[in-house]
Order: sequence, then structure tokens, then C-alpha cells
Amino acid sequence: MPQSDILIIGSGLAALAIAYHTHMHKNVTIITKKSLKDSNSVMAQGGIAVPISSEDSWKAHYKDTMEAGCFHNSSKAVEHLIKEGLCEVKALIEAGMNFDRDERGRVLLGKEGAHGCNRILHAGGDATGKKLIEFFLKKLKEKVSFIEDETAVELIVDRGYCSGATVRDRDGNMKYRYAEATIIATGGFGSLYSQTSNCPSLTGDGLAMAYKAGAELADLEFVQFHPTMLYINGETKGLISEAVRGEGAFLVDENGRRIMEGVHPFQDLAPRDVVSRAIFQQMESGKSIFLNISTVKNFRERFPTITNLCEQHSISLEKGLLPVAPGMHFAMGGISTDLNGRTSVAALYAAGEAACTGVHGANRLASNSLLEGLAFARSIANHIVKTPGQGYCRAVKKEQKLPIDTPQLPSQKEIQEMMARYVGIQRNEAGLLKAVGWFQGYTNQKNFWRFNVKEFTSEQTAVYHMLISGYLVSRSALQRTESRGAHFRTDFPFADEEAWRGKQIIQSINSLD
Ligand code: SIN
Repeated sequence: MPQSDILIIGSGLAALAIAYHTHMHKNVTIITKKSLKDSNSVMAQGGIAVPISSEDSWKAHYKDTMEAGCFHNSSKAVEHLIKEGLCEVKALIEAGMNFDRDERGRVLLGKEGAHGCNRILHAGGDATGKKLIEFFLKKLKEKVSFIEDETAVELIVDRGYCSGATVRDRDGNMKYRYAEATIIATGGFGSLYSQTSNCPSLTGDGLAMAYKAGAELADLEFVQFHPTMLYINGETKGLISEAVRGEGAFLVDENGRRIMEGVHPFQDLAPRDVVSRAIFQQMESGKSIFLNISTVKNFRERFPTITNLCEQHSISLEKGLLPVAPGMHFAMGGISTDLNGRTSVAALYAAGEAACTGVHGANRLASNSLLEGLAFARSIANHIVKTPGQGYCRAVKKEQKLPIDTPQLPSQKEIQEMMARYVGIQRNEAGLLKAVGWFQGYTNQKNFWRFNVKEFTSEQTAVYHMLISGYLVSRSALQRTESRGAHFRTDFPFADEEAWRGKQIIQSINSLD
């Protein structure tokens, strides 16, 4: 019976940082659905925002985070993010993490949307996530059990207490992995959309498993679309970092007209939701949109990953115009946690994008996600290490007699089409009702919530989790009858302070269905 003190599901930055802070005290197992090279963190380009410069302050970073989040953020969580995040970044530099520096050895600070000053640390030009993951993997080598190609299919929960997860190993065998503390660090649900910057393996697994286990979720309607993904023949091909606009690039239509003029005082560096909506509306009116990079100095050296991406797709950097479109990038909502990553299910924690700590509000500020992974990893680790005797196996899996219904499941493509059509950058009641109704056609199947997932194939498990996540996102978007940040309702185009300020929709399987 495999067991460990800490079971971490997922292998992105939050997962590795928690392992880094706990492995001296606890035995840690990290399982990941694909390989350690497959996570959204590995693909993160821009960097980490921290008020490290003497001209900056935590209060200025706090203000920018709250404003970008349309004040839907938890102020306590934002303060924690920035103060703890700064300490963690300084500690990482001390421990040997190399961020890019100028010729005098000073850390270079980039700029991204909605930041009042330059505060983005980066590494390898535009390969910050990859460099950070490499750094942690090197530190953790032989100190933690890493298990690749292993998928969590269900949490082991009894009377509100989590004792690990049921997993499918690389040979297709099911097993129970017991743990004193289980951490969901599975990222978000980018694969609900075909146009996404996310890894294809991001199918909302953590969210769906936590929901089925009775955990509270929040803010699922806030889905961030990144404004600039390389866009060729109607398909997005990968991210073009906001840092490119931070270095002076700007958005134009096919006639060379700057599209962000007059839309927002920050123009091309407006908050992401504003820029994505502006591009979306231009494209809806039949225009093609380009990122003009002709004024960016040393593009190839500063952005090697993006250079590579463009070359792979035969897009000439010399012409200076990159075709772009928005794509799903980040889930602000997720599994509700406190500052120690605790969910509403005992011994179950959530970290990184899978969690809703409240830091991002209605729209995440650029480069605050790697920061969240680092800042909360320390508090989660401290909490787990200091909590005595949570005890193993309180809920050792009892084999239940599960119904033997054959599940009716759609294809991933059908789910993606539904989300793109009705739960995209702009939503309205008629569309959301269609989406919710379509999802309910599946979720209302007899025994849907009790399907025997151990009998599922990998593909069926992914689709099942996508169905649950898509249903919850659509339903949350329908419930919020106002526009705020990344949630834009054409039928309720304004924020409704009275009805919604400061509130989060807290859902649990018991209250929703
Ligand atoms: C980017 O490089 O534009 C993405 C960084 C982020 O999501 O914060």
C-alpha cells in the first residue's frame, strides 16, 4: 500500500516549492500525469513580479494587483502574496537561482500590463518558468519520489477527511496512494478551450476531484484570456509574452491603426481583460490583429522562446508584425483555500492555479502567478510540518459497490466548442443557459457523480473531469449577473457594486445540485 507523509498531485512550481520546503521533515511523493517537463509553469515566459527595486514598494504592487483584480481580491491574501513572495524570491536568489542581469550585475526588471513600474524578474530571456523548474528539480533530486505518467482519478475521502488519492499508474493499474496530507497542484482547466496557452494535460482534474470530494470552490467565472497568442489559419500556436509589449511592442489592425488608443489610459499595457476584449471585438468585426515588434530592441536575444516559436511557424520577425489572437490562459478561481492552502476538506490542500487563494480577484495581474506558487508554498509547507499527527489512512478506502452504468460522454472537441461559443471572452444569459443545459444533459445522467472512475480509460477520465469543470464554470458565469474583470456579460455590461462587491460564490457539491 503506497503511502507517504505528503502526496502532491502535479509537478509545477507550486508543487516543487512545497516539496523544497518540506522534504527535510517529511517524505514527499509527487505524481504527475505526464512528464516533469509538462506543466504550465515550465511554459511561463514573462517572469515573477516582485517589488524588489528601491523605487518600488509592496504597497505599490498591492495597489496594482487590486486594481487589475477589480477589487474582487482578498486584501489579506494579496498582502501575504507580495510580502511573502518578496522574501521567497530573495531566498531563491541567495540559493543560487539566476535571474537575468545587466552588464553591471544588477537584476533586470521588465514591465508588463497594469504594473505601475518595472518589477518583473525574468530568466533565460523569456524562459523564466523553465529555469525555475530546472532549479527546483536540481535541488530536489533524490530527495523526493517523482512519479511520472501517473494520473489521480479520485480523492480518498471519508466524512470530510482526505487520506490520499486513487491513481492510475503508467501501466494502467489502479492503486491507492495514502498520505497524511494531500495537495492538489494540478493547475487549471485550460483544455476546456481549444485556443489556449496551457498544456493539453490541463483538464480540470484537481477542480473536479475536489468538488466531488465536497470541497468549496470559488470564482470559477473569472477566466483569463491572454491577449497575444500567435495566431495562424484560425488557430492559436503558443504564447507571445506580455513582456514583449512591455519592451515597446504595440497592437495594430491590418491597416496599421493602433487599436488600444483611446481604449484605456495604459493603452497596450492595460490590464489583460481589457486588451483581450479589445482584440476580440476587433476580430468580431472582421479585422486581423498584429503585434508590431519593430521597435523592440534585440528581440531575438531578449525573447529566444518566442523567436523559436515564430520560426517554427515560418513567421518572419524581420517584417515586424506577428499575427495574434487571445487564448485561454489562467483560471482566477479554483478550490477555496486559506492562507495556509487548507481547503474545506480536512488534510486536503490546494496550491498554485488549482487554488483560489483570493489573490487574483476578477483578473490576475501579469506575472503574479509564479509569485503565488512561491509565496503560498512556504505557508502551506509550514502548516503541514507544524500540524502534529494528522495521521495516515484515517479513511482507508473501503471498496464500495458502485453502479455499473455505462457513461455517456462527449468528445473533448465538443466540450471545447461549447465553451468557446458560449463561455468565452463575452457571455450572455441566452448562451450560458445553452451551455449549462448542454452540460446538464451529461451531469444529470443517473449516477453521474458516482461513476466508477476506476473503470474509465485515461481519455474518459479527462473528459469526465472536463465535463465537471465546464459545467461549474458555465454555471458560475450564469449566476454572476454583472461584468467585472475577466467576466464580461453583454447583457449586464457594468459592475453591480451593491449586489456583488467583495463576494465570492462558494459552491460545494451539496449546495449546487
Ligand atoms: C506572459 O508572459 O505574458 C505571461 C505571464 C503571466 O501569465 O503572468
